[in-house]
Amino acid sequence: EEPGRLARFQERIDAEERIEPNDWMPAAYRRTLIRQISQHAHSEIVGMLPEGNWITRAPSLRRKAALLAKVQDEGGHGLYLYAAAETLGVTREELVDQLLSGAAKYSSIFNYPTLTWADIGAIGWLVDGAAIMNQIPLCRTSYGPYARAMIRICKEESFHQRQGYEIMLTLCRGTPEQKAMAQDALNRWWWPALMMFGPPDSESQHTAQSMRWKIKRFTNDELRQKFVDATVPQGLYLGLTFPDPDLRFDPETGHWRFGAIDWEEFRRVLAGHGPCNRERLEARRRAHAEGAWVREAALANAAKRRQRTAY
Ligand code: ACO
Repeated sequence: EEPGRLARFQERIDAEERIEPNDWMPAAYRRTLIRQISQHAHSEIVGMLPEGNWITRAPSLRRKAALLAKVQDEGGHGLYLYAAAETLGVTREELVDQLLSGAAKYSSIFNYPTLTWADIGAIGWLVDGAAIMNQIPLCRTSYGPYARAMIRICKEESFHQRQGYEIMLTLCRGTPEQKAMAQDALNRWWWPALMMFGPPDSESQHTAQSMRWKIKRFTNDELRQKFVDATVPQGLYLGLTFPDPDLRFDPETGHWRFGAIDWEEFRRVLAGHGPCNRERLEARRRAHAEGAWVREAALANAAKRRQRTAY
């Protein structure tokens, strides 16, 4: 029975059918999705922290309103994604516990500090730009609830990218000091943004199987190259220099070639030793503890309502 089921499942995938929560699926497919969707959700939630740091210091009311909206969007994305993961039979409490205990991963990028206002521009431009590159194909991922969640998320991400690029543009057209801030932010965020796409294909444990299941539509290296090709002309338009002496356009392939990524740094950040790993987890743990009374009150209210309707 099992081999037949597996073959039929793969046929559905090959025929581009969406897999829905009540459909039969291999245990490893379910595990992979829970892992990826929950890591994605955690990334959105932890991703609120570096930018949240600048809400009270945004340089104008307009900038503050846009940043506030963006950070709220990220909270919303996290909640959609937790809900999508829950359709696979895991509970929200389990997922949150995995994040707070340090057992679950979230994107490496959110372990870097936001030192100046220009970092808010660089995050929108580069981090949200990388996120869109990775997430547009996820709108066609084989698991229905994940694919549907990604459609709205991607619309909001593209607004985030635009607001970041516009901050960079304003700084680059400003005083020499403002332009220098923009350059410094690019210098610090460029390489970590390239690491967001994950390890090189040759070292990626999950890519081959996730491609067969059409969870992933492109490999890590393919998406990284697409991102570099799209982003370098944007940086040149700003009049900025990329912190990579090996970056050059290859007219034969039409791609921008880039230098070697420091995978040692990537491994250090994943192992919990990035510049802000400890601070990020502490902030999430504090928020969870301080929100305990809200959860208790909501549960007490729900219990009361149930009692009332029972009479
Ligand atoms: N940061 C932290 N962990 C990472 C990163 C990263 N940048 N890249 C890869 N990893 C982890 C993987 O999660 C995996 O860990 P695990 O086996 O312990 O679960 C391990 O490194 C090996 O990597 P891969 O085999 O390449 O893993 P995978 O096939 O899952 O590919 C990728 C990684 C591309 C991040 C994929 O999971 C994905 O597309 N996720 C959805 C998008 C997402 O999570 N984005 C978050 C950042 S964007 C944002 O939130 C704004």
